Formats: sequence, structure tokens, C-alpha cells
Amino acid sequence: MTNKNTDPTCPCKKKSCPRHGDCDACRQHHAESKRQRPVYCDRKISVRSFRKGDEFDVSDVIRTTLAVSNSKDYPPEFIEENIESHSPEVIASRAAESHFYVVLDGRKIIGCGGITGYWGSETESYLVSIFVLPEYQGRGIGRRIIGALEADEYFHRAWRTEVGSSLTAVDFYLKMGYTYKNGLTTPDEFGVVRLEKINESKI
Ligand SMILES: CC(C)(COP(=O)(O)OP(=O)(O)OC[C@H]1O[C@@H](n2cnc3c(N)ncnc32)[C@H](O)[C@@H]1OP(=O)(O)O)[C@@H](O)C(=O)NCCC(=O)NCCS
Repeated sequence: MTNKNTDPTCPCKKKSCPRHGDCDACRQHHAESKRQRPVYCDRKISVRSFRKGDEFDVSDVIRTTLAVSNSKDYPPEFIEENIESHSPEVIASRAAESHFYVVLDGRKIIGCGGITGYWGSETESYLVSIFVLPEYQGRGIGRRIIGALEADEYFHRAWRTEVGSSLTAVDFYLKMGYTYKNGLTTPDEFGVVRLEKINESKI
């Protein structure tokens, strides 16, 4: 195998590895190996509950992701309005009203997401503010956020959990097992597509 070295900034210390700098080959190799070790750049990735003071970094993560990732699917006015509305104060109150999680790379917040009661319901739940910084997307971090939210008591107590998905994230939620609510595949008046996951054990 030749060393493609597609990414000269690869932080892994094993420079002699034939996959060094080739992220896809490296991830595939680790996924297939018997010893399930994370790839070098994922070793410091962790998920924890939101803490007071995180609202500033979480707001930055959401605002950056909106500007870079969601701007491909929405007009500039929509993005600007959303960036405006995701202030640290709004995040702090959203976190207080939900079970909110952050993803870290070392000590840096790189993703977030929360779960709350659907309009205050104790039998239906709702996912909020799932974002992964653009440079960390496609590395299984969104899946880890969903894992944390679906391990949460608010997911387990509900017979169904809904998400108002951005156009950008619909395929991600479909991959995570969510389905179109009432079969509707088009966005509503808020520009989001409604998807849900049914908790069969609660029906
Ligand atoms: C949607 C988002 C949270 C996904 O996070 P991510 O870390 O990139 O997702 P993952 O790498 O964990 O992907 C998990 C799976 O979903 C798939 N997936 C993710 N985004 C996808 C997309 N846009 N289209 C198709 N599949 C997608 C991945 O291929 C992966 O599948 P695999 O495990 O079979 O390889 C992230 O892309 C994001 O922040 N998007 C912009 C913000 C946004 O719209 N958030 C949702 C608000 S409702």
C-alpha cells in the first residue's frame, strides 16, 4: 500500500502507517480491526452534560455551523435571523429547559444537542439544537449526539420523539431511524421538516 498522505496536517504520531493522512482509509481500518480503538483524532472526543458558562461556546458552534453548513440550503435572511436568535442568553435558557449535551474535542466544544418535552408533554419529546462544527462533520459525532439524547430519560419516557429538521439535516435523521411525521417531506412555515421516532415499547 502506498502512503497517499492526502492530509499533511494529520495529527497521528504513527507516520510510518501506510494510511497516515488518508482519513477514509484510516477510519475504515479502525472500524474493521478486532481491537476497537478510536482513530487518533477521535481519542479526545467526549460527550457531557451542559454546564453553566458553556452557552458562549455553544452559541459560537451554532452560529458558525449555520453560516457555513445551513447557508447552502437557506436564503441569507433566514440564516442571519437564526444567527441572531442563537445568542448565549437564548442557549442558556434552552439548556435550562432541556437535557442539553455538549461534545468536546479535548476541552473545546465542537457540537451540541438537547432533548425536552414536546410542548411540555411528559409522554412526547422533542430534539433541539443539534449542531456539529463543519470541520468535525462526517466523523460520527452527530451519531454520538443522537446516542446521548436517545439514552436520556426524556427519550425513554416518550412514546414518540420529534425533531424539526433543517433541510440540511433531513438525510442525517433518516439515517438515524427517524421518519417523516404524517408522511410530509416538505418544510413547514418555519423552514423545517418534521420527523419523528416512535418508541414501540411505549405503545
Ligand atoms: C446534521 C449534523 C448534526 C450531522 O452530524 P455529523 O457529525 O456530520 O453526522 P455523522 O458523521 O455522525 O453521520 C452519521 C450518519 O449520517 C450520515 N449523514 C450525516 N449527514 C448526512 C447528510 N447530510 N446526508 C446524508 N447522510 C448524512 C452519515 O453518512 C453517517 O452515516 P454512516 O454512519 O452510515 O456513515 C451536522 O451535519 C450538522 O451540524 N449540520 C448542520 C446543522 C444542522 O442542520 N443541524 C440540524 C439542526 S435540526
